Amino acid sequence: MKILGNKMSYRKIIDSGLRSADDNICDQDKVWSRYSHDKVDIGEELTKVIRTLDKALPLNLKLRALSIGSSDEPQFRILETAFRSGLYLIDINDNALGVVRERIKRQHTSHVTTIKGDYNKIFLNSKDGKVFFKDTLKEKRIHLATLHHSLYYSEQRCWLDIFDNLYRNFLAPCAAMHSVLMSSKSVNPLTTTWLYNYFAGKFFGVHNDQDLCVFKNDLQTRPLFKKAQVLLRTNRVYFDVDNFEKFMAVVWMVLLYPQVHRYNLKQREEITEFVYKTFWRNKKPLIQEQDHLVIYKGVGFKGLI
Ligand SMILES: C[S@@+](CC[C@H](N)C(=O)[O-])C[C@H]1O[C@@H](n2cnc3c(N)ncnc32)[C@H](O)[C@@H]1O
Repeated sequence: MKILGNKMSYRKIIDSGLRSADDNICDQDKVWSRYSHDKVDIGEELTKVIRTLDKALPLNLKLRALSIGSSDEPQFRILETAFRSGLYLIDINDNALGVVRERIKRQHTSHVTTIKGDYNKIFLNSKDGKVFFKDTLKEKRIHLATLHHSLYYSEQRCWLDIFDNLYRNFLAPCAAMHSVLMSSKSVNPLTTTWLYNYFAGKFFGVHNDQDLCVFKNDLQTRPLFKKAQVLLRTNRVYFDVDNFEKFMAVVWMVLLYPQVHRYNLKQREEITEFVYKTFWRNKKPLIQEQDHLVIYKGVGFKGLI
């Protein structure tokens, strides 16, 4: 049996990769957040959006933001200081919001509000949207809406209606929307996109069809967005961790196992061996190509992206 540098046998290391398939998705996401620079990338792009808004709006105006699918981090840390007139964090998972609520109390940040809710219901249904606007936002429009890695949970055919509604009924006259999503196509086999399309395609005959580049074009055909600036940028994010079990934990999350695709044991073994041979043995990081879509409403100069 081949002995590896860290004294683990090939079988043992493959077994460790298979084990993390059963990890809780929140724990897998924590590994991703800690060992990739995804949150740094999001923070950097978001800062450009906030700088643009700061230039476009009066200095003494206190701003309000809405984070959709906010989870427990990093939206609180990134947005709390800039949006002092109200930061509204929506998530379907109350455990994540509980972490934020504890922080709000501990750190006396009462301008931050958590809302447990399904954004597909709130923003796709005009009745629920109206109730949300009246009861939660107190009929005050927002200057920023973020959808960071949260559009995965809505079919692309629904996105136009969600954006239409947000733009028309929730955004202030001068405002922005910032969405982030993994790119849907990549020819680079070291990317999350390629891995997903290859294995989900091979075993389930599907591929990633959620695409912010396509969506940008859809938006630009709508009269509502004629005067808006609709901007797109693609960045690269790297993930690497010195532990194969943790590396695979992120791969299972990317491959949507088991929530969407229930790869059987033989398929999971094939995936684990592929990742071991392609990434781990060659000391290659996993790359994520991710798209940032920024929409500026009522900004009279070219906004940053
Ligand atoms: C991948 S996490 C992204 C978290 C955070 N925005 C970030 O950038 O790290 C996606 C979040 O969206 C939430 N979510 C999924 N479906 C949702 C829905 N229908 N309504 C509200 N939140 C949802 C999940 O609970 C999860 O916290």
